[in-house]
Amino acid sequence: MQVWNEYLEQNKQRFLNELFDLLRIPSVSADSQYKGDVAKCAEAVKQSMLQSGCDHAEICPTEGHPIVYGEKMVDANAPTVLVYGHYDVQPADPLELWTSGPFDPVVKDGKIYARGACDDKGQMFMHIKALEVMAKTNSLSCNIKFMIEGEEEVGSSNLGIFLEKNKEKLKADIVLVSDTSMISMEHPSLETGLRGLAYMEVEVTGPNRDLHSGVYGGAVQNPINALCKMIASCHDENNHITIPGFYDKVETLSDEQRKALNAAPFDLQEYKTDLSVGDVWGEKGYTTLERTGIRPTLDVNGIWGGYTGEGAKTVLPSKAFAKISMRLVPHQTSDEIAAMFQQYFEKNAPASVKVKVTAHHGGEPVVTPTDSIAYKAASKALSTAFGKDPIPTRGGGSIPIVALFESILGLKTVLMGFGLDNDNIHSPNEKYDVANYYKGIETIPYFHKYFAEMSK
Ligand code: BES
Ligand code: MN
Ligand code: MN
Repeated sequence: MQVWNEYLEQNKQRFLNELFDLLRIPSVSADSQYKGDVAKCAEAVKQSMLQSGCDHAEICPTEGHPIVYGEKMVDANAPTVLVYGHYDVQPADPLELWTSGPFDPVVKDGKIYARGACDDKGQMFMHIKALEVMAKTNSLSCNIKFMIEGEEEVGSSNLGIFLEKNKEKLKADIVLVSDTSMISMEHPSLETGLRGLAYMEVEVTGPNRDLHSGVYGGAVQNPINALCKMIASCHDENNHITIPGFYDKVETLSDEQRKALNAAPFDLQEYKTDLSVGDVWGEKGYTTLERTGIRPTLDVNGIWGGYTGEGAKTVLPSKAFAKISMRLVPHQTSDEIAAMFQQYFEKNAPASVKVKVTAHHGGEPVVTPTDSIAYKAASKALSTAFGKDPIPTRGGGSIPIVALFESILGLKTVLMGFGLDNDNIHSPNEKYDVANYYKGIETIPYFHKYFAEMSK
């Protein structure tokens, strides 16, 4: 039993209350209406860093939302851990599907319900509270730098610039991130990869104005029909993506690697029941874990056009739109894939419509090493706190800045997430188990302890 466990035990309720204070601030980065709240949240994060033991904390303004930087330096000879997280959240809508207010956190059945509870306020704040626990019990063994941003959910474009400009300030030995999931409390795990992202928008234009669908219907191409056909053609009958060149750089894993990936506990029936789907779907020849972990995807995120109001209006619309994202795996790059996508849509457009493709923010895939000191320290930390060795997994989500930690700062990352796949992140009723929150605060000090010991 470590001294910090006792301190954590005595301060649990306050640690939860403090997280609730953060969750009450609607720091929605995508919606300019919340700009003031995002700034307020940054200030609250800064104050919590100082209150928890940082010697120094500051708000770093950017062209967009601010970055909060804080540090606690204990020993010039000790390794330095750069903790990354984000205090911004996704929009809460559709609001009517929440069973309690998205910014009015409550605990129900041992779970914290609020936007950001898991992604990422709950997980990010564990590191700030872990600092307090270590500082108050004289258990700090590493220098800690915090870099908590307010634009992760909108692509982190200003954070990349911040990294370029602050290489000296951000000098560290490892980046530690809790913004991913683990399998379960019974099966702790460590993600060893993140997918990249290419996010596109397609605009299809047919006639120069909306037309009466009786007068013109059947004689003029309907841009929504044309768009649907183009989208449908992106997958073949085996659910492979048909865009030429799309798989060219995708690495083939060895049978051994695939076997290891599929050895992780996974219950297909439970998965289907949880999602209320009759069957899963995906690329032929791959398991569900492979489909989310090591294979790329193409998905429509939104599609609109024509009349969507009440009742029926007979119209042959002038325009149709879709937002389409592709998740990428190692060696695919977002620029190359975006260009292939654009070519495919432009080439496949019939002469009866015009197609315009634009790229939104992208991000590159990453794999993190499993033979590094930092990975071993994280693995040992989880083993100690959970009483079980963690299972390495590949995560399906994206954190685009992680690739830039390596390319700009030369730093590797450890993805020590404590969320669960069914925490409803980005969805109504986002939750985070109270037990996971406390377990994270208990585990993090072990990481610092073992990382310092193993670095000697
Ligand atoms: N924390 C998530 C990413 C994540 C979730 C990774 C679960 C692994 C497991 C992050 O906040 C996120 O939502 N990222 C976005 C990308 C971003 C550019 C909007 C995503 O993955 O869609
Ligand atoms: Mn996140
Ligand atoms: Mn997110």
